[in-house]
Amino acid sequence: MNIILLGPPGAGKGTQAGRLVTERGMVQLSTGDMLRAAVRSGSPVGLKAKAVMAAGELVSDAIVSALIGERLDLGDTDAGVIFDGFPRTAQQAAALDLLLEERGRALDYVIELDVDEAALTERVVGRFTCGHCGEGYHDAFKKPVVPGVCDVCASTDFRRRPDDNADTVAIRMAEYRAKTAPILPIYEARKLVRRVDGMAHIDDVARAIGAILDDRLAH
Ligand code: AP5
Repeated sequence: MNIILLGPPGAGKGTQAGRLVTERGMVQLSTGDMLRAAVRSGSPVGLKAKAVMAAGELVSDAIVSALIGERLDLGDTDAGVIFDGFPRTAQQAAALDLLLEERGRALDYVIELDVDEAALTERVVGRFTCGHCGEGYHDAFKKPVVPGVCDVCASTDFRRRPDDNADTVAIRMAEYRAKTAPILPIYEARKLVRRVDGMAHIDDVARAIGAILDDRLAH
């Protein structure tokens, strides 16, 4: 099973990919996570990506496509792959087709998280994670039970992404509208798109995605 989760910043791609990893053993290929790891490590890719990401713009198609190709070759993706945040341009969509074809794979679904953009800025600007275990929190929707202490591992080290501020989120949204939303018709023409209400409760979104995958496995 190879699926793309598509939606603007804060739509819940990472959240739902995480559920699929836990519940189905699929592998999450998040170009955002890969690029952040590259920035942290100070690698040549990270050095190129850092300022672009901080500005809310898109990293080059060649860089992200190469990252995905290398990741697909690690040999641990038999249970299925969730592409999270990739592809984001028509060029990346074409690159993905080629990468899959070269490896004898094909896309099963493009799951579009249908969301109300106005609500997303609040989701993104308010989120933070535990720097130790990665547990996610939100200023309004999910505060730690004891303020300043992680519910899971008791760490007091919390982190916010540098691109999760209102100005940069506005640029990220504009990038999505201009460059990523236009790839949907490519997949619609191939009858691969399934739309899910991304404004529903996280559990309900997960159930809706699960039903789509189960239906595929049953036929
Ligand atoms: P990336 O890391 O991919 O960020 P993004 O697409 O902006 O997505 P987010 O991680 O912000 O949101 P999400 O949809 O995963 O939502 P989440 O589940 O976290 O990319 C970052 C940057 O890297 C880009 O700007 C670009 O520079 C670069 N980049 C990455 N990939 C690239 C590519 N392919 N090409 C070029 N450049 C690339 O949820 C958000 C919040 O909402 C959380 O707090 C969560 O708990 C909450 N939430 C989730 N679902 C729900 C729900 N149903 N109800 C209520 N709250 C919810």
